[in-house]
Amino acid sequence: MTTTMQETAPPALRATSIDVSDLDIYYGDFKAVEGVTLTIAARSVTALIGPSGCGKSTFLRSLNRMHEVVPGARVHGKIVIDGRDLYDADVDPVEVRRQVGMVFQRPNPFPTMSIFENVLAGVRLNARKVSKSDAHDIVERSLRGANLWTEVKDRLGKPGASLSGGQQQRLCIARAIAVQPRVLLMDEPCSALDPISTGKIEDLMIELKDEFSIVIVTHNMQQAARVSDRTAFLMVELDADEDNRWGRLVEYDETEKIFTNPRDKRTEDYVSGKVG
Ligand SMILES: Nc1ncnc2c1ncn2[C@@H]1O[C@H](COP(=O)(O)OP(=O)(O)OP(=O)(O)O)[C@@H](O)[C@H]1O
Ligand SMILES: [Mg+2]
Repeated sequence: MTTTMQETAPPALRATSIDVSDLDIYYGDFKAVEGVTLTIAARSVTALIGPSGCGKSTFLRSLNRMHEVVPGARVHGKIVIDGRDLYDADVDPVEVRRQVGMVFQRPNPFPTMSIFENVLAGVRLNARKVSKSDAHDIVERSLRGANLWTEVKDRLGKPGASLSGGQQQRLCIARAIAVQPRVLLMDEPCSALDPISTGKIEDLMIELKDEFSIVIVTHNMQQAARVSDRTAFLMVELDADEDNRWGRLVEYDETEKIFTNPRDKRTEDYVSGKVG
């Protein structure tokens, strides 16, 4: 995964596509997701939509090897970035998680840690020694990148918990981008936020896609339509005797196509609000 070239490449070149093929995702014996094949494009926003339980979060977590932290959880198939399978035996999952960052549904800053140190938390975890001036540069760059700088620059020493929910989520985005990942995964990042904060995060996603490949899970169809370039629709399938169920990719296409002229009737029913 790591080469010095990627480290020193300009930001726009760090963004990368992800090739997923024949991916099955298990929790122990339970197959939660079956047979996903798709390519996530670089420098774009890809939305994952579908009814609850179809495996959106599970799929998202498989993209940075967070899935396997659940005991018994595993995948079959391939997820390739830059010619390397993330699941190859010699790939370090910690390094994968540095390259493929994640933002969660509920903002989760360290509450008593200062805003400044929250931004640096991931950087420090990666065990690089950070000089004072580098630390300040990273904090300012990341907070500017997350559109939070002007709101917090005069209170960087205050605890993370002193921010509003929307600000906390942007702080978490700042923390995620501080380590300069190549891909940013976001699992329903706005579901705990008011419409104004949601709008700010949506604007931010559109700005950040110049630099990162972004994958977002959302239940908000308008949001998927507003921010994403491509949309993947997943659904739960049942086998004939309805004993087994698993999530499957039904359709993946340009967002515009998914929302105006999908190929599959099930996609049309879902995006038009008839089911789900
Ligand atoms: N830790 C776990 N152990 C076992 N099964 C799990 C675990 N997490 C999720 N599952 C199962 O995997 C399937 C997919 O769950 P997942 O959370 O990925 O769905 P989702 O599409 O993100 O749903 P939602 O929209 O409600 O967030 C479900 O059947 C769920 O019960
Ligand atoms: Mg989920």
